[in-house]
Amino acid sequence: MRNRRASDRRSVRIGLLGCGTVGQAVVRTLTGSAATIERATGHRLEVGPILVRDPSKERPGIDPALITTDPAAVIEDPSVTLVVEVMGGLDPTLDHLRTALRRGASVVTANKQLLSRHGPELLAMAEQAGGEMRFEASACGAVPVIKVLRESLLAAEVTAVTGIVNGTTNFILTEMAKGGGGYDEVLARAQALGYAEADPTEDVGGADAAAKMAILSSIAFHARVHLDDVPYEGIDRLQSEDIERAASLGFVVKLLGVARADDGSISVRVYPALVPRGHRLASVGGADNAVLIESRATREIMLVGPGAGGDETASAVVADVLAIVGTPQWSFLHNALVDSGRSVAPAGETTSAFYVRMSVADRPGVLARVASVFAEEGLSIRTVVQSGSGDEASLVLILHAGLERRMEAAMARVRALDDVRGEPVVLRVLGSGEGGS
Ligand code: NAP
Ligand code: HSE
Repeated sequence: MRNRRASDRRSVRIGLLGCGTVGQAVVRTLTGSAATIERATGHRLEVGPILVRDPSKERPGIDPALITTDPAAVIEDPSVTLVVEVMGGLDPTLDHLRTALRRGASVVTANKQLLSRHGPELLAMAEQAGGEMRFEASACGAVPVIKVLRESLLAAEVTAVTGIVNGTTNFILTEMAKGGGGYDEVLARAQALGYAEADPTEDVGGADAAAKMAILSSIAFHARVHLDDVPYEGIDRLQSEDIERAASLGFVVKLLGVARADDGSISVRVYPALVPRGHRLASVGGADNAVLIESRATREIMLVGPGAGGDETASAVVADVLAIVGTPQWSFLHNALVDSGRSVAPAGETTSAFYVRMSVADRPGVLARVASVFAEEGLSIRTVVQSGSGDEASLVLILHAGLERRMEAAMARVRALDDVRGEPVVLRVLGSGEGGS
């Protein structure tokens, strides 16, 4: 699409290959945000046709008229200038992408298995025919790691990429470590949540992570790393006893991708490893992914976020679509022109959880009087710790999230109590319901 002036294109037709977990979320996002996208990019996106295997399946919110079982309707129709590939697999997907790229269409794909084997060939075809191929969703779901490596760190001389790059296995390991069920039960939950590949042995056996590490290391080190270059082990032979033993020694077990570059060579591997509990990667739980990028210039940069799931992955697919579609000026999106119509909430109407510490007279009924002020203002107490010293006691309370204006009113009343000495300390508590009302 780069060989055409963006200002000539007011309407862009986007065909999809696949309409499963990710495909449905892509369609929902593109149609639900159509007006915002048009205002920001200057282009109207038209979605469809959409290729599937079984047209009779339930696809909530998807117009059945857009569904087709004929690949040519997507990959050969010249009016489809951008093809989104979210069907997965190698065959017939590879041939479909070759056909689309050969005629100059651009492609956005989430298919790591395909890219880690045929990425260089497909990128060369895109280049030759004047199209573009983007693949942010092929590694780490919603986390924009490919954009950061390709653009922000292009000249940073990256020396190592260490990552938790498979959401399914991280979910399984996190759940098992906290006693959330046995291996089979937790894997079934990951499948039901849409995290796992169509064949979950790709996830638990390490092949999915190996493919992602091949892609990430190729970009990070400006090299060609094929899936066959990445030895991998999964978590399928891991025993829960070792997860427990590791925990008792201060470690958590994670499936890691480890890529290193020195002057002469590159090594890329995937294996389960013990990570010290204080390490930054140890706290990455659930289906989240994280990538720690090391370079001389930047030292360590860690990117973390959802690594799997329909909406999460669709966010990366749509970002690629928008990057290809561009803007009339070939510059940044016109976000400044977009007005969602939402107003800014007054500070008092936002909610926060609070920590309060105050000195009080150590006499009967003080705690009840303080507590009743909060109760009358509709604020609920989560924890109280009282410690006395002579005639004075220190009172520490943690309050559940409540309206800021109610807290201000409560503190004005608390300060006015005879029992309270000096100025109480009030701090907000993160992660306990802070945010808008
Ligand atoms: P999915 O739910 O299994 O959906 C696959 C879709 O492709 C379905 O609509 C299926 O049609 C269609 N399809 C498959 N083979 C086809 C064929 N030969 N001809 C026509 N249609 C075909 O898969 P998904 O989870 O959305 O994943 C799609 C891709 O995104 C994969 O490459 C995956 O690795 C990648 N990805 C997934 C996630 C995630 O969290 N799920 C995250 C990152 C990347 P039917 O509906 O008729 O069966
Ligand atoms: N099955 C993959 C995972 C989806 O669990 O990470 C994201 O590529």
